[in-house]
Amino acid sequence: MNFWENITKPIIGLSPMDGITDGSFRFITAKHGQPDVVFTEFVNAETVFFAPQTLMKDLTYSEVERPVVAQIYGHTPEVFYRIAHIVSALGFDGLDINMGCPAKKVAAKGSGAALILNPALAQAIIRAARQGIRDWFEGQNLGDLKFDPEMIEKIRLANRLRTGLEETPARRLIPVSIKTRIGYDRVVVSEWTQSLLEEKPSIISLHGRTLTQKYTGTADWDAIALAVRTAKNSGTLILGNGDLRDMKDVCRRVGETEVDGVLLGRSAQGNPWIFRTKDQIKQTPCLTGTASFHHAPVSLEERFKVILEHSRHFEKQWGIPGFVGMRKHLAWYCRGFERAAELRSQMVRVNSAAEVADRLNNYATSSGQTFHDRPLAFGGIA
Ligand SMILES: Cc1cc2nc3c(=O)[nH]c(=O)nc-3n(C[C@H](O)[C@H](O)[C@H](O)COP(=O)(O)O)c2cc1C
Repeated sequence: MNFWENITKPIIGLSPMDGITDGSFRFITAKHGQPDVVFTEFVNAETVFFAPQTLMKDLTYSEVERPVVAQIYGHTPEVFYRIAHIVSALGFDGLDINMGCPAKKVAAKGSGAALILNPALAQAIIRAARQGIRDWFEGQNLGDLKFDPEMIEKIRLANRLRTGLEETPARRLIPVSIKTRIGYDRVVVSEWTQSLLEEKPSIISLHGRTLTQKYTGTADWDAIALAVRTAKNSGTLILGNGDLRDMKDVCRRVGETEVDGVLLGRSAQGNPWIFRTKDQIKQTPCLTGTASFHHAPVSLEERFKVILEHSRHFEKQWGIPGFVGMRKHLAWYCRGFERAAELRSQMVRVNSAAEVADRLNNYATSSGQTFHDRPLAFGGIA
């Protein structure tokens, strides 16, 4: 079952970001923004062998996120074969293979964007992942592959905790997708896309930078347009990615390049609402690039409620010791309103959701409580 085909184009999804798009961030974004699709942070395929506990934490998700895709990185086809079983057994809607990460610890081992230099291995990885999904679909069990019984039990438990049901998710032939860049140290998007297309992935998501560019310069959307032309009539959809600040940018790039969709990364940080106008784009011909989007501003009250909801979710998932990981999100939320900098400087020092509530209430009390011409109803923030 290929869920990608059921999404009205252009597809507008949340891009995977390590250290950011964890279960809490995805939950909040799915609930308050409703992107068409979300991806987990990238997960190292090898953890299936040496750190099953970490693996299960990284692959925890909630039903509201659907469709939700597990993103995996690695460089060994056999490991992808095995992890494809786990991703399937956990009920994910898709498996995405990371072929775009530029980080040294990833690329130096031949994973992530280093695979651009090794198209034969990239193809073998896609085939192995797809075979794993197919074998699972046709009835193979984790026990048949000699998975640790403890791991099998963890998967059963994760499914039960998420769905409240005892049954394992229905066996499905989930789609395989690739997220990559336009080259290693120079743009080779046409050859690289052509090589990936031979394995017929459902989606190729392209960040318009090379590995050596990392995040510098600007995303090359001409290269993305070239990939769209290369993939025309292949059955594989192309998603463009890089430097999209808002839905106006999305509309312009979709119009210019005819991509099947886009992924938004950094512009969704502290801004789950960015996806709210996505349905207007789907009804608007994006060719002129002049479309305007009607989006009621996010009230301060709503912003604060979401900040607190996110903080509580995060604390539940990572505990008080892990709460420092929430501070960057809090800083991102505190932008674009009166005295935001002052609140931000307090938020980067909090240690718990209770402290977040305290700072928000202090802000409301000291601010005269009128924003957007009406009083803030902060009685609810406790
Ligand atoms: C902090 C951070 C972490 C990222 N982690 C991942 C990752 O785990 N997997 C991945 O495919 N891309 C990752 N990316 C790349 C983004 O998905 C995206 O391709 C890139 O940020 C460009 O899109 P943007 O301009 O909309 O942010 C990461 C980017 C950032 C900034």
